[in-house]
Amino acid sequence: MYAGRVENRFVIVTGAQQGIGFSIAELLVKEGAFVIPTDIDDGRGEKAIQRLGKKHAFFLHHDVSQEKDWENVFEQAIQIMGRVDILVNTAGISGLSEGFGPQNPEDLSLNDFRKVQTINTEGKFLGCRYAIKFMKGHGGSIINISSRSANVGVPTMYSYAATKAAIKNLTKSVALWCCAKKYPLRCKSILPVAIHTPFLRSDDWRKRSKKKIAKLSEEIPLGHMGEPLDVAYAVLYLASCDSKFITGTEIVIDGGILAGSSALPGIIQTKE
Ligand SMILES: NC(=O)c1ccc[n+]([C@@H]2O[C@H](COP(=O)([O-])OP(=O)(O)OC[C@H]3O[C@@H](n4cnc5c(N)ncnc54)[C@H](O)[C@@H]3O)[C@@H](O)[C@H]2O)c1
Repeated sequence: MYAGRVENRFVIVTGAQQGIGFSIAELLVKEGAFVIPTDIDDGRGEKAIQRLGKKHAFFLHHDVSQEKDWENVFEQAIQIMGRVDILVNTAGISGLSEGFGPQNPEDLSLNDFRKVQTINTEGKFLGCRYAIKFMKGHGGSIINISSRSANVGVPTMYSYAATKAAIKNLTKSVALWCCAKKYPLRCKSILPVAIHTPFLRSDDWRKRSKKKIAKLSEEIPLGHMGEPLDVAYAVLYLASCDSKFITGTEIVIDGGILAGSSALPGIIQTKE
């Protein structure tokens, strides 16, 4: 019988009711893990469980910006699964959705800047802290979803890009801290871009998405956008023993964009 690559591993995936997070949860379940998908959106979270199957998954409400939610999620996860082996920190926002103002360095308000920082950066900071607390005894992996924006400036997603650089960097400090303390816990990040998910469907995107996808695809060396599964396969590798010599570093999933300078940062992401 086929033993999955993460057979009998116990996993928390944040931001997992749709998009990349759901795809990660689905692949890890398929590869033998028991997964707790968490999300701020309870209704859709429950629907995600129906698709994953109740034998393999259990949904928990979770706002990643709230410390008490992290404590609760880890405590409940341990009650349900006995232990947590892998935390995939996926939840994030772009600042381009309804209710946000312009995101460029000249017009971005302090309030909007902080909202994105709170969910993206503080959410990952809290996730890493609680993972160390609850996982350092038996070990495992923390996988933080950053972005290609960690490596480049994105003037039309100013706060978002700064959060992604912070996530890439805090991953390195967490990894080295765990090594220094001899915790059997590895921490890595993934830097995707241009993955076709609801994340890109801001109001602006909805209006012009076909045109924008075609334009973006022209700018990607591989000639097309990625799909959530492209990110999920990288998570599977980093979550499995196959990556046992990897910590403190990142995998870029970008169709070749960062290999050259063909795709301008921010070509599609405009709020203005
Ligand atoms: N789609 C891309 O091209 C792309 C590129 C680079 C990085 N990423 C990153 O990948 C991650 C997932 O992106 P996606 O495209 O699947 O996005 P998505 O918008 O489809 O999914 C994000 C999920 O996070 C949840 N969420 C939002 N705020 C939350 C909060 N405070 N607490 C808990 N959950 C919350 C949402 O409900 C949603 O389910 C994000 O961190 C994003 O920055 C995506």
